Amino acid sequence: MEKDSTTECSNPDSASSTTQASAKTPSTAEKPLLSAEKTSSDYYFESYSHFGIHEEMLKDAHRTGTYRDSILQNKHLFQGKVVLDVGCGTGILSMFAVQAGAAKVYAVDSSDIIDFARSIIEENGLSEKIELIKGKVEEIDLPVEKVDILISEWMGYCLLYENMLETVLVARDRWLDKTTGIMLPDWASLYIVGIEDFEYRASKIDFWDNVYGFKMSCLKREALAEPLVDVCDAEQTMTSSACVCELDLLSITKEDLAFTSQYEITAERDDTIHALVAFFDTDFSFGQKRSGNPLKTRSRISRDDPTQPRQYRLTTSPWTKPTHWKQTVFYLPNPCDLKQGEIMQGTFALKPNDKNPREMDIDIVFRHTRRLSDDTDETLSSQTVPYKLR
Ligand SMILES: C[S@@+](CC[C@H](N)C(=O)[O-])C[C@H]1O[C@@H](n2cnc3c(N)ncnc32)[C@H](O)[C@@H]1O
Repeated sequence: MEKDSTTECSNPDSASSTTQASAKTPSTAEKPLLSAEKTSSDYYFESYSHFGIHEEMLKDAHRTGTYRDSILQNKHLFQGKVVLDVGCGTGILSMFAVQAGAAKVYAVDSSDIIDFARSIIEENGLSEKIELIKGKVEEIDLPVEKVDILISEWMGYCLLYENMLETVLVARDRWLDKTTGIMLPDWASLYIVGIEDFEYRASKIDFWDNVYGFKMSCLKREALAEPLVDVCDAEQTMTSSACVCELDLLSITKEDLAFTSQYEITAERDDTIHALVAFFDTDFSFGQKRSGNPLKTRSRISRDDPTQPRQYRLTTSPWTKPTHWKQTVFYLPNPCDLKQGEIMQGTFALKPNDKNPREMDIDIVFRHTRRLSDDTDETLSSQTVPYKLR
């Protein structure tokens, strides 16, 4: 791991706990909120009000560039269409959509950043085409019954942190045309891979074994249970990778956002596995061209067609330049020596936390296995950890 770039998974909900009146609703404007009365939702939207978080996202060139290319290089999809931008932030995706020929864009955001988006859209002469609506997607009305295209950048750490995808599904079910509507992106996949990480694990986890001569095992357990958001080097990866979740955004439901998957990864060299690293891809396959020709609206290239490279894929894999999502690292309680060809298998179960659904509970079973024959495995060790992505 790159020691200097550690981001202990920062939870937008806990970004600020100052006592202040919120101007969002009349009731809170009348009565200043005590910090204890603020909901996690208040903290969440406050975290998106400052320009700093948007600066980081806009400067993530792979993120913003993939959205820009998938929109601007597919003007045939946008020409004359009505677009909904779910969580518009600074309005960047809405402005790309107008550049691509959209007739009208409805841009929704509940955080105060939308007040800046209004100035930005005015400054760029786009106010006639982009209508801004301040409020939660779940609570607002649109002036139209249907939209042709839904665009949104909803991904969080480990893909589903923040649970904003649920909001996108609400918008899809309420407004996206059921027969001709398209989404950008339209697919998302979550993967895991094993890494060697002796040094960094020692400084983050084993550190608690001896702090000025004292044992602090309770904090070691806490440190283990909290996945780290950090950049992992490609050379650290030592196993094959496995997909633990694949989401077709046009058809999934809220229930699909909690899942349990079986996984199996194979050691590609003799080495110690210290952690599983999670990363994700999102695909914009409506814009994908087959043999250079744009696909007809609403036809998509099959996910299983290896002859068709993904033209518009946003990836956070360790084998490409890091994005602001980095990767998410789950340390094993006991690092495990694997011989080349040996297997780590088990289950990866993810669900939104019951109390705060923007946070994630992730249970991982790690089973170190030797394959004796096609149908016989020998389990060499097994460990289970309930992780909390907070
Ligand atoms: C990751 S940012 C993306 C901003 C912008 N689309 C971009 O690409 O730069 C997500 C935005 O969605 C907004 N958001 C999240 N959940 C929302 C909801 N339920 N209703 C309205 N806005 C929401 C947040 O306030 C935030 O500004």
